[in-house]
Amino acid sequence: MAHYYLEPSRTFSEFLLIPSLTTKDCTPANVELKTPITKFKKGEQPDISLNIPFTSAVMQSVSDNNMAIALARCGGISFIYGSQSAEDQAAMVRKVKEYKAGFVVSRSNLTPEATLQDVLDLKERNGHSTVAITDDGTPNGKLLGIVTSRDYRMSRDPLDKRIKDFMTPFSSLIYGDSKITLSEANDLIWQHKLNCLPIVDEEQKLHYLVFRKDYDAHKGNPLALLDANKSYIVGAGINSRDYEERVPALVEAGVDVLVIDASDGYSEWQQETLKYVKSNFNVKIGAGNVVDREGFLYLVESGADFVKVGIGGGSICITREQIGIGRGQASALIEVAKAREEYYEQTGIYVPICSDGGIVHDYHITLALAMGADFVMMGRYFARFDESPTKKLKVGNNFVKEFWGEGSNRARNWQRYDTGGKQSLVFEEGVDSYVPYAGSLQENLDKTISKIKSTMSHCGTKSIEDLQNNARITIVSATSLVEGGAHDVIMKESTLSGE
Ligand code: IMP
Repeated sequence: MAHYYLEPSRTFSEFLLIPSLTTKDCTPANVELKTPITKFKKGEQPDISLNIPFTSAVMQSVSDNNMAIALARCGGISFIYGSQSAEDQAAMVRKVKEYKAGFVVSRSNLTPEATLQDVLDLKERNGHSTVAITDDGTPNGKLLGIVTSRDYRMSRDPLDKRIKDFMTPFSSLIYGDSKITLSEANDLIWQHKLNCLPIVDEEQKLHYLVFRKDYDAHKGNPLALLDANKSYIVGAGINSRDYEERVPALVEAGVDVLVIDASDGYSEWQQETLKYVKSNFNVKIGAGNVVDREGFLYLVESGADFVKVGIGGGSICITREQIGIGRGQASALIEVAKAREEYYEQTGIYVPICSDGGIVHDYHITLALAMGADFVMMGRYFARFDESPTKKLKVGNNFVKEFWGEGSNRARNWQRYDTGGKQSLVFEEGVDSYVPYAGSLQENLDKTISKIKSTMSHCGTKSIEDLQNNARITIVSATSLVEGGAHDVIMKESTLSGE
């Protein structure tokens, strides 16, 4: 006879947190969001922690190298999507690892033979007021000079004047060598009152420019997630099909952490993939997704460094409608978190869990953490920002961004839904959609984080661990959900739109 779970499975919106005593020192400013991402022994530190409990989903429409840099700068990790060739994915990882915060590859370049008119045209096109003059006009050619608006007089100089006749030549430039650190580069900038410092190698080839304004921006990111070489930390999604080809390429590119990305991760294929990675590489790897105790223990015993929880709750997901598997995200998380606690008590090994999918309101993140998640993974949330890889469009009067599921016909990521032998996407498990455009990642994250810290301070907790151990959570009835929004008033917006 089949096994029945007769309690309904629940989602985040069915719960609220009950405030506890807020002591005077428990202010939002004193709340710490650092959290482990890889397993560790009692009393030891995890190899990788996040400074904010956010990761971006393994999706074409969410996590590329730009998103990875932007999110790591704020303290989280992106898992670069795996539904592309191993080579292309590794190239994205490499771009993140080679990106040096504050060091930018020159985007406006000309040769000394070009004219003032060319400088003005380039400025109009790119908006940059600093133009690097290289022997071949490329960003890494031999640096011969720099042109800024201080080198020409708009009304007096003829537009056909050659750059070589008015640029600041290399011999008069202050520059840094290619081994310089960001802090040394900035010392030079301050010492010589520069706006921009070119970085060149021993053959005078241009590598980067360091701008004064970028340094200020860099200083504003104290949570940036960096490795020992000061490169951003980056993750990548893999599947249980082509891992023997993909993992070596990603490791070679410098990936910090992998995750096996599958809709249902409770499978022997995931065990095989974990065993292969663990016996051949020294790289951290998470697995999933699961929604119960058995799935969690299976992946942990197979070697997973963290486990991802959630089936069917994603905003673009139609898995539940298509094949009828899944579980309310809150119930899944509560059961897995309990299994994790038992495992910790028995073995002394703490395995972080990630709540993946279904975050709609910011407070859902806090609820997920309170229910035992160490961090969340989000797709829709990040897809709305400038930094996501998709197009921004105007639909009607609103700006939107494109957002599609990995199981949609558009992504055709059949490996994610593979349960053996299926070499193509026979039916869709995701949709192709739009999400409202929301502006920059940093601005939105700042707001979300202040809400999380505020909730945690209302709960009298100053860390995620504290919240997990002490949160008081209540189920809300359908009627009290109505009470939770604005009700029994006439909203001004609707009054106006009715005019
Ligand atoms: P969201 O944050 O609610 O948008 O959920 C994102 C999560 O949905 C991802 O991290 C995946 O676990 C899951 N997902 C991504 N693409 C699909 C799909 O096409 N169908 C079902 N689930 C998906």
